[in-house]
Amino acid sequence: MEPAKTESSAALVPAPQAIEGGVSDEAAPAPASVDVMDLMDESTPLARELASENRRREKLRGRVLPRPPQTRIMTVSNQKGGVGKTTTTVNLAAALATAGQNVLVIDIDPQGNASTALGIDHRADVESIYDVLIDDLPLANVVAQCPDINNLICAPATIHLAGAEIELVSLVAREQRLSRAINVYAAEREKQGLERLDYIFIDCPPSLGLLTVNAFVAAREVLIPIQCEYYALEGLSQLLKNIEMIQKHLNAELVVSTILLTMYDGRTNLAAQVAAEVREHFPEQVLRAVVPRSVRVSEAPSYQQTVITYDRSSTGALSYLEAAAEIAQRA
Ligand SMILES: Nc1ncnc2c1ncn2[C@@H]1O[C@H](COP(=O)(O)OP(=O)(O)OP(=O)(O)O)[C@@H](O)[C@H]1O
Ligand SMILES: [Mg+2]
Repeated sequence: MEPAKTESSAALVPAPQAIEGGVSDEAAPAPASVDVMDLMDESTPLARELASENRRREKLRGRVLPRPPQTRIMTVSNQKGGVGKTTTTVNLAAALATAGQNVLVIDIDPQGNASTALGIDHRADVESIYDVLIDDLPLANVVAQCPDINNLICAPATIHLAGAEIELVSLVAREQRLSRAINVYAAEREKQGLERLDYIFIDCPPSLGLLTVNAFVAAREVLIPIQCEYYALEGLSQLLKNIEMIQKHLNAELVVSTILLTMYDGRTNLAAQVAAEVREHFPEQVLRAVVPRSVRVSEAPSYQQTVITYDRSSTGALSYLEAAAEIAQRA
């Protein structure tokens, strides 16, 4: 099935592409010296929103993202389910990769949603991150190229991973297995003369078991997506306590570097209140970019795509592109 090509707001006012191109079909061409955006009618809320989106797009246009001095390993975690971990992982990864960065996504959620969104085969018979964690298979053997995005590779998760929480318990160095696999893989890439990875994103399951612990031990940074809903902050203290435990006993370098507000519904006061509260508690970590609730974001995975490739002109894609730029600047 072919995806429809209009984002909700863009569908109502079909101006963004025309404005990005310089002129709309109906309007007379603007004189070269006049900024087209100055001519926009901002007398209605919708037109104002559109004008604001266009200004945001303009800011991103042609922007070159700095490459980090060393590989940034970020684990995307929140034990609360359905808050946008996977969506954030794949879309940030896609945004950075399409900006020329070398990105690896490691899917350690047995649901395999990140693998699906990136179009990576993760049927039960495929060699996957399960084999890396349990059978010491080199990460290089399971990493697959994302079909739509050049610089993006992914280590898929298969259903076998569902049993890994229990199987890991009896293994040697059970908390360090992912970390070791990543180190070996990085050294192997270097030996082969491959370019250094700029980012590794680890998509965690919604639990604080051994799979998530492996991600915390392997990473330097934690990225927490927070859904702008009433229960958002419940459970966050438990997550932060766990991270403190990891810092104390297993990985002293781990920091909660980034918080991203997701599924923001601008029509409700509640979303604004939750966002304000999170910003008050974590002024340094919360990104300025906020991901709105967007139909395009939620339908992209059903086409085995990220919203960045599915509809780059949508508001959801714009927010993830902004978030990626902010993360890159913070390096
Ligand atoms: N900005 C958004 N707008 C609309 N829908 C969204 C948005 N972000 C995520 N979703 C949808 O919300 C659902 C949950 O998102 P996602 O799978 O990313 O969460 P998760 O935290 O990874 O979930 P889990 O805990 O099960 O791994 C998905 O159906 C996804 O498509
Ligand atoms: Mg997920």
